[in-house]
Amino acid sequence: MAKTTVRFVCQDCGTWHAKWGGKCEGCGAWNRLVEEQVERKRSSSRPSSVEFVGIVGESATEPRKITQISEFDRVCGGGIVPGSVLLVGGDPGIGKSTLLLQVVAALARHVPCAYISGEEAVAQVRLRAQRLGVEGGSHLHLASATKVADILNALDELGNIELVVIDSIQTMAIEAIESAPGTVSQVRACAHELITAAKKRNMVVVLVGHVTKEGVLAGPRVLEHMVDTVLYFEGERNYHYRILRSVKNRYGATDEIGVFEMTDRGLSEVPNPSALFLNDHNQDVSGSAIFAGMEGTRPILTEIQALVAPTYLASPRRTAVGWDAGRLSMILAVLESRCGLVFGNKDVYLNVAGGLKITEPAADLAVAAALISALLNVPIPAQSVFFGEVGLAGEVRAVSQAENRLKEAAKLGFVRAYCALPTQQKGVPGKEGMESLHVMKYLIELLDFLPKVPHTKAKSIAF
Ligand code: TYD
Ligand code: MG
Repeated sequence: MAKTTVRFVCQDCGTWHAKWGGKCEGCGAWNRLVEEQVERKRSSSRPSSVEFVGIVGESATEPRKITQISEFDRVCGGGIVPGSVLLVGGDPGIGKSTLLLQVVAALARHVPCAYISGEEAVAQVRLRAQRLGVEGGSHLHLASATKVADILNALDELGNIELVVIDSIQTMAIEAIESAPGTVSQVRACAHELITAAKKRNMVVVLVGHVTKEGVLAGPRVLEHMVDTVLYFEGERNYHYRILRSVKNRYGATDEIGVFEMTDRGLSEVPNPSALFLNDHNQDVSGSAIFAGMEGTRPILTEIQALVAPTYLASPRRTAVGWDAGRLSMILAVLESRCGLVFGNKDVYLNVAGGLKITEPAADLAVAAALISALLNVPIPAQSVFFGEVGLAGEVRAVSQAENRLKEAAKLGFVRAYCALPTQQKGVPGKEGMESLHVMKYLIELLDFLPKVPHTKAKSIAF
């Protein structure tokens, strides 16, 4: 017998409440509780037994599905694992549908795939496919639908589908649930049905999820726990490139990124992102330092820019774009207390050029170098890269993968590297193609490496 009850569900974290309230008890968010109807079913089936096996044994493993879009394949950990469920999240309009249409069409050259759109009509998807120049042949099945039961039924009829894209999970609905599509109950129930189907048929399911304005997937943490892989598609609207980032992967490394560029014919791969991010780098300006970073398994060089200007405010401004503002304050404090530099009467702006977001603490040294260079108005010696974590004692700590960072820098024509004194655990790097390797134990030593003469040569710009 089914019994219907009402509950109030937080649309951010999915916590249930018996009564309505302004604030969610689970995550503290305000005004996110929505009334949802729940049907409670009494289980009538008898439990069936579970078969135990040993941990060692032969299990059939199918090879991963390679889409040939190598930026996508790498983020998935070297292709898509059969029967796995992927969640691709991102802001509306960032290019999720475009990416997945290209992915599904590429894969459909070899295996039967389906693309289900709950947002666009078939004609619209076809128009887009035409513009992208993708075909997919007879292996690609396209439909516009929103009812999960109908979709599973249709997939059953086709019988052989190996990958299905559901665009988007927020438009899907199960009729037995009364809440509107996009609510936590619907999103969770639809995802559950689709995931069960995926595991049962050994079919890959790719769920597209929109991100709310707070920056989380709507119906969010619940979904992240349910799927095998979570990929975020990010990018600034004003820039043409997009970054696909893996934040969870049961079958591969996380923090892996794939870089794409949005063109008028869809997304094209960017195999050498460092060159893209360093495109406009100007070497004789003060306040610019190149960070030799790692994104997952791939080294990426980015430019860090700092501007230090006299302040007219009682509490000087500290602004960071693409980097953590708290970490900027920490580096400034270390520079003041341990290196004797004064930023107290200055506004400080920090920017990661190209709109990239950096989370690695290894960027500390590059940030410090950019700040010193901006404060003293001396440009950093040309063709230099920096990497190292800065501690509160003013020490510079070694970071992992020094060798890969140096190799990438050498490949792009850099000749000087500034980094921490290597430790045995992190691996002692050779020069890896650098002309000089400036190792340091304390941040204050960086001051000795930089030229002392202020940069006074004013440049006139002709318009
Ligand atoms: P879309 O894939 O619809 O975004 P999402 O599914 O994440 O909401 O992408 C929409 C944007 O991409 C839109 O602003 C137009 C742009 N775009 C291009 O620049 N070139 C193209 O070839 C395509 C198909 C889209
Ligand atoms: Mg879309």
